Amino acid sequence: MSGESFGDWVTLEDQGGVLLLRLADPSGNYFVFNAASVEELEKAISAIESRGPKGLVVIGTERGFIAGADVNMLLAVDNEKSAAEMSRRGHALFGRLARLACPTVAAIHGPCLGGGLELALSLDWRIATKAKETKLGLPEVRLGILPGWGGTQRLPRLVGLPNALDMMLKGSQLDGSRALKRKLIDRLVPKEWLLDKAIEQVSRGKPRRKLPPIVRFLSFTGIGRGIVRRKVEKTLSAGQGRFFAAPPQILDVTLRGLAAGPAGDFEAEAIGLGKLTASATCKNLIRLFLESEKARKLSRDLDPSAPAVQRAVVVGAGVMGAGIAGVMAKRGIHTRLVDLSAEALSRAVGRLGKAMRKSLKRRQIKPHEYQATMDRLTASTKLAGFTGADVVLEAVAENMDLKRKIFGDAASRVSHGTLLCTNTSSLPLSEMAEGLPHPDRLVGLHFFNPPEKMPLVEVIRYEHSSDTALARAARLAADLGKFPVLVRECAGFLVNRCLSPYLGQAVLLLEEGVTVERIDEVATDFGMPMGPLHLLDVVGWDVAASVCRVMGDAFPERMEPSGYFDAMRDAGLLGEKSRSGIYRYEKGKKQGVNGTALALLRDKGFTRSSAATPDAADIRDRLLLPLVAEAYRCLDEGIVDSEGQCDLAMVMGIGFPPHLGGPITWAQARSLDEVEGRLQILSGRYDQRLAQAARVIEAVRTSDTTASKESVSASEPARHA
Ligand SMILES: NC(=O)c1ccc[n+]([C@@H]2O[C@H](COP(=O)([O-])OP(=O)(O)OC[C@H]3O[C@@H](n4cnc5c(N)ncnc54)[C@H](O)[C@@H]3O)[C@@H](O)[C@H]2O)c1
Repeated sequence: MSGESFGDWVTLEDQGGVLLLRLADPSGNYFVFNAASVEELEKAISAIESRGPKGLVVIGTERGFIAGADVNMLLAVDNEKSAAEMSRRGHALFGRLARLACPTVAAIHGPCLGGGLELALSLDWRIATKAKETKLGLPEVRLGILPGWGGTQRLPRLVGLPNALDMMLKGSQLDGSRALKRKLIDRLVPKEWLLDKAIEQVSRGKPRRKLPPIVRFLSFTGIGRGIVRRKVEKTLSAGQGRFFAAPPQILDVTLRGLAAGPAGDFEAEAIGLGKLTASATCKNLIRLFLESEKARKLSRDLDPSAPAVQRAVVVGAGVMGAGIAGVMAKRGIHTRLVDLSAEALSRAVGRLGKAMRKSLKRRQIKPHEYQATMDRLTASTKLAGFTGADVVLEAVAENMDLKRKIFGDAASRVSHGTLLCTNTSSLPLSEMAEGLPHPDRLVGLHFFNPPEKMPLVEVIRYEHSSDTALARAARLAADLGKFPVLVRECAGFLVNRCLSPYLGQAVLLLEEGVTVERIDEVATDFGMPMGPLHLLDVVGWDVAASVCRVMGDAFPERMEPSGYFDAMRDAGLLGEKSRSGIYRYEKGKKQGVNGTALALLRDKGFTRSSAATPDAADIRDRLLLPLVAEAYRCLDEGIVDSEGQCDLAMVMGIGFPPHLGGPITWAQARSLDEVEGRLQILSGRYDQRLAQAARVIEAVRTSDTTASKESVSASEPARHA
């Protein structure tokens, strides 16, 4: 056996006439495509071509195959021409692999994503391990781009157009068995056999594949492709999809490739990638991706030795506690759920059972996994069974005495090392900690509703929280598949505090006579997942009234709430849950505007005159610029560490349009000069309180401090999603 190295990343070994092309990151991380590794690969392919081996196996390391391209490389590209060039270089490289005369095999273990899968697609055979770390996919769409190294051309020929589009438009990742089912790979083998089986595969020569007749019709005939196109276009134009250029571009380039015949249309892919990579959307999505990677590393940054939570007690089985406990059980944590109400407990267990049965039906899990998850969640009406708990998380009603009592009881039963977490939305942790032994282990862990779906968790630091406790709480959140953002304690924490002026302006606009539909439509046209008045119905006007009260008390000069919040609550117009709020609801579906809510507005004297009638731009800026100013206030007060984490929290917490990068990035793209000017105009026209927001922006604009402007360093190693 002889070995040849092409630098730090790529080596070639001869195993009895079969060449092994080994790809490994010198620092032990996942292999990624960057300037150095691509250059080495080019040299290695020249060597392979000149040696004329009897077979080629491309293999990664114990850790993984290829995680994709280094996203910093994409971030650095600022024009269409260089991005298209980058794509052509990939085409040339993988084209040479595809043209090798010998049989070629990708031996895949761990991530095989983006450019990694595109490399594998250029080979004859793909063999993958059964290990759970093995994941195959083209996640480019999530970064606002398309698979630009041949993916749009090769994937539909291998798995058929419908499967290929499904994978590329969702950016989904398949494990080995799903990849086998979709014919993306040829064999699934145990990890220990990977290399042997890959070498053995060489003896099978070149493959001959045939897709089923219906898939051939849909992929390789004009009529079939027309059917697929119309179906996909319908889904792309719905909801927030309309703000993204990548999905229609992926569809277009893929169809062009199939229409062009066997050679495909790689040039269309290069041009498509050029356009998308140079766009602001792509840069914003990449920055958010880098921020999300940072969030996942929060625990390690605070205390790298923070252990994982294995046993948890969740007190309170309501909307939040039931959801959090279910996520814990799904993620392998033995969880005891405690509530005074046996009915709440049985609802909670039923909620998990329903979700798990759905996954079972969709074959996302196996029957034994269903059973194991259900067994991990136990329910009790007694505050007992705490022995050995790593964390006690309370999610009982928002009442200080109740929460203090629960922590007092818990503290007397658990060891000093047990983490104590509160899911409070508004109560001060310092007060909650009074009299608590070892108050340094108390941390706020603020999940969003519904906990099963919402990706953000605010990790709240108060004056006594230790880094060790914060790190363990952040690790717990990350282990639950969430993105923990560190937030210093203040009323509303970060997300609800910034949301408060947004909701306040929405109600003010309503009082001034702007219609419900118009207010909500301006917000959704901006890219929010739902309008602010619809959001109030979802949150519940009772919850909103109490949160707004807390915010009004903390910041009376700018957040004193309208009396309409209390009036809606008192009238029982709570929103979705009472099937009657600003809108009416039938069978859980939103209907028209609720006349009773509008009558309440008139009859209780909440209507007010306004000197001007706001157009769409005024409505949008009245809703969103005060939110931007509040975000800057939070940065200034050190509530959140950086602009990037603030943007991430607002995108993940309230669905601020990700293509705009978050409120801070959006405001900076408009220019702070313009934002300040607009706030001044709006203050004179509608609401004098907006002058305060203008002053905040002015202070940021004229300030020399750049501490809060820290963003992710371009040199930081980063991987594809
Ligand atoms: N609902 C939301 O959208 C949301 C979002 C984030 C945070 N929160 C916070 O989460 C917490 C819980 O909110 P929720 O909406 O789930 O409330 P909820 O009213 O749905 O549930 C509270 C549960 O606590 C139980 N409970 C009351 N006293 C108890 C005791 N002494 N021992 C054990 N259980 C007891 C109740 O029986 C009830 O099942 C609150 O602090 C709230 O501010 C709520």
